[in-house]
Amino acid sequence: MSEFNPEGSGAPPEPAPTVVRRAPPFRVITVTSNKGGVGKSTIAANLAVYARALREDLPVVVMSFDDQFLPERMFRLGGNPPGPTVVDVMRDGDFGSGIRLGQFGVGYVPSSLDVGEYKRELTSPFKLRRILERSGWEGLVIIDTKSDLEILTQNAIAASDLAVIVVADSVSLAEAEKVYALLDAWGRPHEHSRILLSLVDLRVKYREGEHRDVLALLISEIRRRGYPLLETFISRSPKIESLYTNPEGRARSVLHAARESLVQRQLKHLADDLLRTLDRLPALPDLPSEATLPQPAAHEGPAEPAPLETPAPRPAELRRSDEIPLEERHLLSVDELLGTDDRIDTPDFRQ
Ligand SMILES: Nc1ncnc2c1ncn2[C@@H]1O[C@H](COP(=O)(O)OP(=O)(O)OP(=O)(O)O)[C@@H](O)[C@H]1O
Ligand SMILES: [Mg+2]
Repeated sequence: MSEFNPEGSGAPPEPAPTVVRRAPPFRVITVTSNKGGVGKSTIAANLAVYARALREDLPVVVMSFDDQFLPERMFRLGGNPPGPTVVDVMRDGDFGSGIRLGQFGVGYVPSSLDVGEYKRELTSPFKLRRILERSGWEGLVIIDTKSDLEILTQNAIAASDLAVIVVADSVSLAEAEKVYALLDAWGRPHEHSRILLSLVDLRVKYREGEHRDVLALLISEIRRRGYPLLETFISRSPKIESLYTNPEGRARSVLHAARESLVQRQLKHLADDLLRTLDRLPALPDLPSEATLPQPAAHEGPAEPAPLETPAPRPAELRRSDEIPLEERHLLSVDELLGTDDRIDTPDFRQ
């Protein structure tokens, strides 16, 4: 757990001149988007697998407020015996009681069909953070949310050191603005968030005279809004779909069942990037007093996408697309990609 020790290892730190909030011995990543089907559950569950693989000593627990049960299908050992769920953890305030040991050494707190009903009881967005702080648990919690910004999702975002906001298109990017409205209302610096581009299809190109491609368009808009963007992105991959349909009804992990795929390498980069980011992140600021909070307008459904502005002009020196193999192009960072003429003329998508 030294990675999450804010004082680091080695020589004793200088006495701090001002009072600095110490990071608790756990860190939380929440994967969120108000838009459905952008890959949240896939990313959250697979991130847990990679985090365990990259840091073998790091306890990792996936908690899911999504009642589609993907983490359970990936991590459960044998059947699914009855026991506490996320709703019980939230009601009773006992995080440790909900953790079950799962496949690959990943712990999980099962979701529940009662999450919808429980939402009506919950009024504070900060309950989960307080439960985690009281628990004394050490390690990494990865939270999968439903595609809404209602009170349980707000609890997940408020509990997180890093909110990973998944963006796949202009609608989900417009929705990201609502997450930033919440963070702003809580006085939470934007460094505690990252935009992650998902379901990126580099084959999608616009005609000459319009924006060149979906990636350039989204990145330009994300930069214009000043949102922190992860350098790694997740490609659209037919391989992912195939991991969820099998006679056993299990969800297979990308690391174990799609070893040779591009998404495998992208997820590994992503997990590594996020773990390093968590190492560097300061502790969360104190939770604000709820009495003083403005009520953010976060309960509406997806908004009409805001018109995207013209992307910044591409660098004059473009690498020719045929100089870069397709596989390599999917592993470039978003910056590197924008410096390439990444047209793909073949529909071949070898994964
Ligand atoms: N990178 C990917 N490439 C192709 N298909 C993907 C990818 N990621 C997820 N999918 C597919 O998209 C669908 C939605 O994925 P997932 O359940 O992870 O999204 P979600 O955002 O959690 O959805 P929801 O909002 O319903 O909770 C699934 O059928 C999944 O197989
Ligand atoms: Mg989901």
